[in-house]
Amino acid sequence: MRVIEAGSLTLEPQIAAHADGMFVVLSDPAIYEYENEPPPSLEWLRARFAKLETRRSADGHEQWLNWVIRVPTSELIGYVQATVRGEGRAAIAYVLSSAYWGRNLGRQAVEAMICELVEHYEVRSLYAVLKRENLRSMRLLERLGFSVAAPEQQLTHQVEPGEVLMRRESQKT
Ligand SMILES: CC(C)(COP(=O)(O)OP(=O)(O)OC[C@H]1O[C@@H](n2cnc3c(N)ncnc32)[C@H](O)[C@@H]1OP(=O)(O)O)[C@@H](O)C(=O)NCCC(=O)NCCS
Repeated sequence: MRVIEAGSLTLEPQIAAHADGMFVVLSDPAIYEYENEPPPSLEWLRARFAKLETRRSADGHEQWLNWVIRVPTSELIGYVQATVRGEGRAAIAYVLSSAYWGRNLGRQAVEAMICELVEHYEVRSLYAVLKRENLRSMRLLERLGFSVAAPEQQLTHQVEPGEVLMRRESQKT
């Protein structure tokens, strides 16, 4: 994995040493309005990040790519992640500290990750599953060229009630 420059942001391959800074980011209750929950402790997060440094799922079939997002003041403000599967498919997710919402920084970070996935990981199909009420996330994806997947794809991806699958096909530039 490489460091990615994304405008004013830097995306750094996530390592265990990022846990201290990311624990502060991930303790922000606003980011759990629609799903998930904060890490139970710093030790838990450090162990989790150490495990993720393998960059692979336990069965070795998926690449798990995680980058933390840094602003020029050197603060960490969130992460972007991709699960790269076979046949050029990847699922993406992202979280940004609420103090930084609404400044296009989420879009900037996700767009830079997508470029990296297309250029260096042979990704062609991109997916994201989100809660239907998560309008900020939906807007971010729409602005990046994602659209709601066809009903049969929603079924294949085991999308749960209240969730929506968004997808985008990408061309190598
Ligand atoms: C989703 C998330 C990363 C967006 O970050 P962000 O930096 O605010 O994103 P951006 O500023 O790049 O784009 C947000 C878009 O939503 C729009 N928006 C903001 N509030 C909105 C609202 N209440 N309803 C609809 N759209 C809204 C913004 O105007 C912007 O659209 P625009 O580019 O057309 O102006 C951030 O809200 C987050 O971390 N949320 C919690 C975690 C999460 O939900 N992750 C995604 C799981 S799928």
